[in-house]
Amino acid sequence: MKVLITGKGGQLASELVQLAPLQHDIICVGSSELDIANESLVSEFITKIKPDLVINAAAYTAVDRAENDVDAAYAVNELGIKYLADTCKKINARILHVSTDFVFDGKNTIPYQTDSTPNPINVYGASKLAGDIALQEILPGTSVIVRTAWVYSVNGNNFVKSMLRFMEEKPQLDIIYDQIGTPTWAKGLAQWLWAVAEKAEVSGLYHWTDAGIASWYDFAVAIQELGIEKGLLKQAIPILPIPTSAYPTPAKRPAFSVIDKSSAEAIVNIKTIHWRKQLSAMMDELKLL
Ligand SMILES: NC(=O)c1ccc[n+]([C@@H]2O[C@H](COP(=O)([O-])OP(=O)(O)OC[C@H]3O[C@@H](n4cnc5c(N)ncnc54)[C@H](OP(=O)(O)O)[C@@H]3O)[C@@H](O)[C@H]2O)c1
Repeated sequence: MKVLITGKGGQLASELVQLAPLQHDIICVGSSELDIANESLVSEFITKIKPDLVINAAAYTAVDRAENDVDAAYAVNELGIKYLADTCKKINARILHVSTDFVFDGKNTIPYQTDSTPNPINVYGASKLAGDIALQEILPGTSVIVRTAWVYSVNGNNFVKSMLRFMEEKPQLDIIYDQIGTPTWAKGLAQWLWAVAEKAEVSGLYHWTDAGIASWYDFAVAIQELGIEKGLLKQAIPILPIPTSAYPTPAKRPAFSVIDKSSAEAIVNIKTIHWRKQLSAMMDELKLL
């Protein structure tokens, strides 16, 4: 199978390339080679390559910047997906696309189901939802959308790497305790996507994160504990729980964005692994770098 992966250099695309099954012909491109917001380029590039499958890991992911950069966020997260879908339709290619827990408003107290009603509370979430709707309209039977959350990896910028740096540099950290979600190792999501790639009959909307739930505060505490245990940090610093109101950001975040993974687990028979175990495995990788 010829597989085109977008978002080269991003957290997820890097893991997808690392885990790519050897029998497939993989082409991975970054924004400098294929700007997905450029309609004619998308059409020309993909028509020339003729992939059997496109895995779209490219997105405008700067959540706070998106609040004042609305057109740019929609250009990538809505129009970019529409252009990919239009071209995939023309060449009969399947597409696997990644979306976000930020399509939800966070008012739930139990995990969001795949058919829960989205109601994004920031521009990034709204632009991602617009992309999901476009893809479902254009390629209902040959597309998969997977919503994920709180992604980290040894590649790229993320909460885990920032925390490890701050824990070396700062005397104390104040971390939000009243936003609840699930940290997700990009490698686990990449494994799920490759399993879905092998099942051509799978289409529709799924949710994938690691198992368990946490606040950002819980996540930071675990990063420090495991960081010390693994020799990535020398000593513990105080970590203080603070409410969201004490750390204002341009974009609002959902207070609760836990998503139900059961249909994603069942479709490929892969169980999600608890986020703390995944964090430990990611830190083992970090140690080797
Ligand atoms: N990170 C999270 O916590 C999180 C949570 C929920 C859902 N997601 C979703 O998961 C997916 C993967 O996220 P990630 O964490 O791997 O993101 P990431 O590390 O920010 O990578 C995104 C990639 O998209 C590329 N990109 C941006 N604009 C582009 C354009 N116009 N054309 C082509 N490529 C473009 C970027 O390339 P350049 O650097 O060259 O611009 C970057 O390599 C995304 O769909 C994201 O919305 C992420």
